[in-house]
Amino acid sequence: MTTPSALLQVMMTAARKAGRRLARDFGEVSELQVSKKGPGDFVTQADLKSEEILKEELEKARPGYGFLGEEGGLDEGSDKTHRWIVDPLDGTTNFLHAIPHFAVNIALERDGAGIVAGLTYNPISNEMFWAEKGKGAFLNSEKRLRVSARRQLDESLIATGIPFAGKPGHGVFLKELHQLSQRVSGVRRFGSAALDLAYVAAGRFDGYWERGLKPWDTAAGWLIVMESGGVITSADGEPFTLENGTVLAANPDLHGPYLERLKAA
Ligand code: IPD
Ligand code: CA
Ligand code: CA
Repeated sequence: MTTPSALLQVMMTAARKAGRRLARDFGEVSELQVSKKGPGDFVTQADLKSEEILKEELEKARPGYGFLGEEGGLDEGSDKTHRWIVDPLDGTTNFLHAIPHFAVNIALERDGAGIVAGLTYNPISNEMFWAEKGKGAFLNSEKRLRVSARRQLDESLIATGIPFAGKPGHGVFLKELHQLSQRVSGVRRFGSAALDLAYVAAGRFDGYWERGLKPWDTAAGWLIVMESGGVITSADGEPFTLENGTVLAANPDLHGPYLERLKAA
């Protein structure tokens, strides 16, 4: 049994509250698939509501911290040394299509220290992936997370994100997929960048790469992967930053071989 710090408990309480609401709304979404209007507006409301709950809960527990949310943008706050980075619903397309694979994503950035705490919570599977800088990464309260020990490229499973309508990078993606798919045992596109990173941390995926990401997609997972012994860089092998928007995360043995294939694309 691992006891999360007071800070993590604040984050978990907020994530569970937003997650309960998302899970309730998710139940409605499958009904709406067959309605004429479709679930679009309803999902937008669910997304906004989740962010509202997270902002309220986090502000209540840590007044004045800055808040960067996907929906509401940046609220600087009075305490310029701390900032929450939040995606209230990662995996919106899954949610919209009644596929139970999405997450609430919360990270805390501290001036000069980077991301010091992060969590990714899937309210449907009730899996809470979390990490604190220097203290390791965990699944729920009992399980220590470790990246996989797999070393052979051809036995490995890698996740990715495919650019969709309105996004750039389709050509580059196809070249990268061409390079990787012939060398690995499988490529997965599950539709939540946050859970893709958490699954690398949990050793379920051996690696994950994607371009065109935002800070709220990766802030929590960045720490969770590092605290599980993983390696995370940009998709070009540069040091990872939230602003770069590309990622390659993997176990330490396969990061190099994956990067080599990406560079060959
Ligand atoms: C998206 C998901 C998806 C990734 C996209 C993200 P959203 O986030 O993480 O897996 O491929 O790049 O924008 O829109 O569901 O919060
Ligand atoms: Ca997202
Ligand atoms: Ca989102």
